[in-house]
Amino acid sequence: MSSVRESAELFAPSPDVVAQANVTSYEELARWAERDLEGFWAAQAEQFVWLQKWDRVLDDSNKPFYKWFVGGKTNIVHNCLDRHLTTWRRNKLALIWEGEDGDLRTFSYHALNREVCKFANVLRSMGVTRGDRVTIYMGRVPELPIAMLACAKIGAVHSVVYGGFSVEALHGRIEDSQSNVCITCDGGYMNGKIVELKKIMDEALKRSPTVEHVIVLRRTGQDVAMEAGRDYWWHDLMALPIARSATGNRSDTAVMDAEDPLYMLYTSGTTGKPKAILHTHGGYMVGIGTTLRWVFDLKEEDRWWCAADPGWVTGHSYIVYGPLLLGATSFMYEGAPTYPYPNRWWSMVEKYGINVLYCAPTAIRGLMRFGEAWPNRHDLSSLRLLGSVGEPINPEAWRWYHRVIGKERCPIMDTWWQTETGMFMITPLPVTNLKPGSATYPFPGVEAEVYDEHGKPVAAGEEGYLVLKRPWPAMLRTIYKDPDRYVSQYWSRFPGVYFTGDSARRDSDGYFWIIGRVDDVIKVSGYRLGTAEIESALVSHPAVAEAAAIGLPHEVKGNAIHTYVILRAGHEPSEGLMEMLRQHVAHELGPIARPEKITFVPALPKTRSGKIMRRVLRARALGLAEGDLTTLEE
Ligand code: PRX
Repeated sequence: MSSVRESAELFAPSPDVVAQANVTSYEELARWAERDLEGFWAAQAEQFVWLQKWDRVLDDSNKPFYKWFVGGKTNIVHNCLDRHLTTWRRNKLALIWEGEDGDLRTFSYHALNREVCKFANVLRSMGVTRGDRVTIYMGRVPELPIAMLACAKIGAVHSVVYGGFSVEALHGRIEDSQSNVCITCDGGYMNGKIVELKKIMDEALKRSPTVEHVIVLRRTGQDVAMEAGRDYWWHDLMALPIARSATGNRSDTAVMDAEDPLYMLYTSGTTGKPKAILHTHGGYMVGIGTTLRWVFDLKEEDRWWCAADPGWVTGHSYIVYGPLLLGATSFMYEGAPTYPYPNRWWSMVEKYGINVLYCAPTAIRGLMRFGEAWPNRHDLSSLRLLGSVGEPINPEAWRWYHRVIGKERCPIMDTWWQTETGMFMITPLPVTNLKPGSATYPFPGVEAEVYDEHGKPVAAGEEGYLVLKRPWPAMLRTIYKDPDRYVSQYWSRFPGVYFTGDSARRDSDGYFWIIGRVDDVIKVSGYRLGTAEIESALVSHPAVAEAAAIGLPHEVKGNAIHTYVILRAGHEPSEGLMEMLRQHVAHELGPIARPEKITFVPALPKTRSGKIMRRVLRARALGLAEGDLTTLEE
């Protein structure tokens, strides 16, 4: 749900969770960071290996282009893999993976490193070097993190495109990033069906002649077209002598400046053109490692499961990089939560003895529908902590998650953050008293505030714009190739502070309640989509003259996409056409963008300057007051 009902209940974490928590006092840490932000983050950075220490923790001489750990040299992969190999952890499991078909694969730190080194050598042999962009478009398989880590190891910048996106979305992202090399799979398994990843890649590449090489992982074994001289099988390349260096399956980790780019990740904003959010090696590493250690309290012997997709920021920060930084054991699952039955997730929690589970409210709501009998068949007693991310969790889903899955023992860490923030920003710690539906307090060092239109803090209990007032190490550095947009999008609405695009309320106890997006972004099942992207997919169909997209509340998805379409002359509204247009959007953007409903209309509410007034459409659909209509043209 995009709006949450405030709940007065307070849930204190159980004494044994508090007793073993990595942090003892939120207040102490928050006070320390408030007093000495740089000293606070420097102390956290000391937990990692630096090949050269930084000269300055924070350089704010060119706001809002902040720099962290300036002069420091490291590589996130050095901290994720290399440093564990000289300790007992080399034989610890880094990754446990289960395929949707029941396949099981495990990688110790030693084994994972071996694959990463070999693949890094393959990339180098193809001429990929420091600063080059590589597009990764794969299913949820271990080779996806391997490819990401291999890029980072050699200093290349990965751009992972979520495997649920389709031709147009993929094409736009490859073009914008100017990748010369793309990595994909023949297909991926999802919900018992095959996603035709290579076929979609081929279509996207028809208009991207700059791509020189495509590396294809065989996952499903289906027939795919392989273009001679361009396409290579992953397993063939990994078997070549080139994959093994003279020292035997080893590969040097490039020494990077703290501020060197690690990856870019496209996310939706107010225009039709997705933004490439840029993250770095140094500050990002410090931010995600610290937040994961404190919020999810990972212990050496824990098994951590972040059930997101590696193709989104949650997967980047907390499936791939975060757990490896801490030397943790991470579980990753390929497929759908309900395949073949609605107990799939719970059976895996039992089978692998998962201690901490982190997922999206939409997944909880989806599984809740099938009733308690499914989870109740399984022994979930290994769970100690639970987590939620991506959208507000409605108190009903919160209570079900807490009672049925966590057996009232496991506190729920409702983490608010964004692709842009890289790390958790407003979040409980295991010692925090919880209110269902609230992400509680800002992480130590984070200063969040709720502003009115004019940039004045609102009173407790009042709704306003959520802003962040101090920089943080895992913050985005810019939008790739578009620094002006970085400034205008995030730092101009209220000069000098970061504008999140969310509305929120802070209650009289200082708890933050996130309400939802105030820009033209829709969160559908936790996925972030721009109304403009959906609209441009619709108008690319010959029958459509104009289109508008809005999000309306949906019981499981949180929000569903509703669209309004003006047809071109010569086309008549029909059920058939409606279905065809829904299919068209799914083909262009991906199944997640398929509109729930299409309404054919003769006109759209617009301002005199021609901007579609989506809030009017939304108000009408919900039967609410339409608000100020003075700018409405017709
Ligand atoms: O609206 C907020 C919502 O997700 C947006 C960020 O989306 P994305 O960049 O895709 O990153 C999602 C995963 C970090 C935010 O602006 N959001 C994220 N977490 C929460 C949330 N809304 C409420 N509660 C949360 N815990």
